[in-house]
Amino acid sequence: MRAFIAIELPREIKDSLAKLQWQLKSSGADVKWVEPSNIHLTLKFLGEIDDKIQDKAGRALEESTKDKTAFNMRLAALGAFPKLKSPRVIWVGIDQGDNEAKAIAKELEQNLEKIGIPKEDRPFSSHITIGRTRSPQNREKLVENLTTLADKFSQENLEFKVTGITLFKSTLTPGGPIYQALKETPLKTT
Ligand code: 2AM
Repeated sequence: MRAFIAIELPREIKDSLAKLQWQLKSSGADVKWVEPSNIHLTLKFLGEIDDKIQDKAGRALEESTKDKTAFNMRLAALGAFPKLKSPRVIWVGIDQGDNEAKAIAKELEQNLEKIGIPKEDRPFSSHITIGRTRSPQNREKLVENLTTLADKFSQENLEFKVTGITLFKSTLTPGGPIYQALKETPLKTT
């Protein structure tokens, strides 16, 4: 089974990101847009794991979140990997809540390494992927749209409270991935 641990986004945030995708779609670029209901912020990709590891991963998730408090997250930027001018992965970044997400990702990395899940080669960078380019078609127009919308988007003040962290199963199908929540651990609320 393929699995990952992520922050699930509330419906209103997904709706706003779907709107953003629509605005970017007018570029006519060849992008595989993430199905809005599937949009999330990955904290740790586990890859292929078996049932025994699934239970251990669930416990590692509990261990990594047990002292953590619910926090506010604010979406603040629009960008692309490897860079805005040559977009492959199109993402939304965060400002408020970034440190908290990083702290949880770090604990997850440490606790999951103990059960044999390899550490990432690259440092963790909080991002919400909304699309992946498939070819260079209309890339210049896409970059133009990204640049214009990046400014506007920062002013939208999209905020929500992160109250839990979720272990997801991902099933790849020709129609796109299907994500199923296997376990959600709540964060402390005061
Ligand atoms: P991404 O948002 O940076 O593309 C489910 O597939 C999630 O796991 C995606 O959000 C994706 O992150 C992440 N993911 C998929 N394959 C990965 C890999 N090989 N290494 C790290 N993260 C991966």
